Amino acid sequence: MCGIIGYIGTKKAAPILINGLLRLEYRGYDSAGIATIEKNGLSVMKDKGRVKNLYNLDGIDDLEGTIGIAHTRWATHGKPSKENAHPHLDNSNSFAVVHNGIIENYNDLRNFLVKNGYTFRSQTDTEVIPNLIHYYYSKDKVDDKNKVLRAVQHACKDLKGSFAIQVITKYLPDNLIVVRKDSPLVIGKGDGENYISSDIPAILSFTKDFYLLDNYEIAVLSRDQVVFYDFDLNKINKKVTSIDWNATSADKDGYEDYMLKEIYEQPNAIRETIGSRIPENEPCNFEDLSFTKEFLFSINKIYIVACGTAMHAGLSGKCAIEHLCNIPVIVDVASEFRYRNPIIDKNTLCIYLSQSGETADTIAALKLAKSKGATTLAISNVIGSSITREADYSIFTHAGPEIAVASTKAYTSQVVLLNILAIYFAEVLGSAPVEEIKDLKNEILALPEKIESALKTSSQMKEYAKSIYQEKDMFFLGRGIDYNTALEGSLKLKEISYIHSEAYAAGELKHGPIALIESGITVISILTDEKLVEKTISNIQEVITRGAKTLVITNKELPSNNIDVIINVPDTCTLLSPILSIVPLQLLAYYISKEKGLDVDKPRNLAKSVTVE
Ligand code: M6R
Repeated sequence: MCGIIGYIGTKKAAPILINGLLRLEYRGYDSAGIATIEKNGLSVMKDKGRVKNLYNLDGIDDLEGTIGIAHTRWATHGKPSKENAHPHLDNSNSFAVVHNGIIENYNDLRNFLVKNGYTFRSQTDTEVIPNLIHYYYSKDKVDDKNKVLRAVQHACKDLKGSFAIQVITKYLPDNLIVVRKDSPLVIGKGDGENYISSDIPAILSFTKDFYLLDNYEIAVLSRDQVVFYDFDLNKINKKVTSIDWNATSADKDGYEDYMLKEIYEQPNAIRETIGSRIPENEPCNFEDLSFTKEFLFSINKIYIVACGTAMHAGLSGKCAIEHLCNIPVIVDVASEFRYRNPIIDKNTLCIYLSQSGETADTIAALKLAKSKGATTLAISNVIGSSITREADYSIFTHAGPEIAVASTKAYTSQVVLLNILAIYFAEVLGSAPVEEIKDLKNEILALPEKIESALKTSSQMKEYAKSIYQEKDMFFLGRGIDYNTALEGSLKLKEISYIHSEAYAAGELKHGPIALIESGITVISILTDEKLVEKTISNIQEVITRGAKTLVITNKELPSNNIDVIINVPDTCTLLSPILSIVPLQLLAYYISKEKGLDVDKPRNLAKSVTVE
């Protein structure tokens, strides 16, 4: 949930670190800090609040050090405060540490250290780490060049939970040490300099060559090289991965907010997702997927497991796979899946959807399925992300970096990719009519242009937002595939406008929620599924009768039927309609948030990547 940045080179580290933190702020933003190695030892500067506050700290401009570590925090243990901000120092001020993750046994470790004379300045779990490193360092009687490395290794072996940590120390003034377990960390390889980050976009403007650290790996960085070790300090080799993302795509490109930029990037993101996967007059093509025909025929059940928006994309994936492949699909929330005893065998395919590829619950759910013998497929937007390294197979949405906490282009590209995957399965299995598949492919290829049209609803949604931004509660209704869009539209609204909203399957309304419908309440309905239109219209009439204000998103010609506002999106086949009908709802959430003067990209209490449980 937190973001970490590190630099070792010949330039002044502080500006590079702060700049990197600004790019990582979406991962956490309640406090921030940096530590550098200065001529007279370690310097630590930190404060509560946003990263930009660091610019105002006395002496920040005087830092000359060319090695440093930095952190932007999303509080888990201890409230947001200067004391709890990272970096943390050991009692002798010799080791500075930043940490992303959670140390589950920190209470035991703290008690152990207290018994050994250590004191604590913060309420964080992290502060045990520099003190443990110091403990092992001072106990080690061998005074060789690996003494710090051994101390870091011993300390990390004591930690339970998840961690990506960076360590600098006055004892090794030309090195920086990093370790990783279940929290993301990448090393960017430069020329005479190296970078560390929680994720790739934050350092993409410096390098496109990355080392992807795996669990229980340690790296010792110097200016010219990176030496890798396993947890027993055996040297290991790691390959460089080159990333072809464009650095400018991680910037705002003139848009007021990342979220708006990412909403408008959807046509291109989907072009990239489609890529060469739908060749003309040939079956769909997943070069990166080597499922055998026998395996595809043997699948008796598919799980799609994810969190939040990715889970909503999974619901539309279920519609596509069940309809085209006739294989039952269960969509599950990762945090539930991981703690139940899912019925899985070697004929079960488990698909894990995660934009970031770092979501702790989704990764744990994948590991569980693997341990039960299922075949696992990860769908992520981030090449080299943890989930893709755990899964048997991985495919990528290629939607480009998504920075805003509220997911938009990652969602639509996931729905597109799941549809292409369903077609790919159906073509191998021969389970769907050739004509239907042909139409679906043509509709997928037409999506980028249709999204351009859906984006033209922007001014209508901006106006509508002005009329409802002060509301306290709202309802979203839909049937069939439109219920998925209702869920996602409702989540977008909650996340960035802080308006309470509920999404219901329209037919469920009369089983309870209709009791909440009263004069003046806003009910937003999605209506794209031909065979269900009339049913949903009846539900809308039920709320109109009770005084609700209504907005309908549809791709059908509807009689006005006393509906207050009808927003038209381009028509497409039912399986793809969520990709178009969500666009006005993304825009609505965005404009309501702006009307309320809120921070669209960094909503309160949320973080982009939920790397803790
Ligand atoms: O990176 P992931 O796709 O695994 O993230 C899953 C959810 O945390 C994420 O979709 C979350 O719900 C977003 N904030 C939604 O906008």
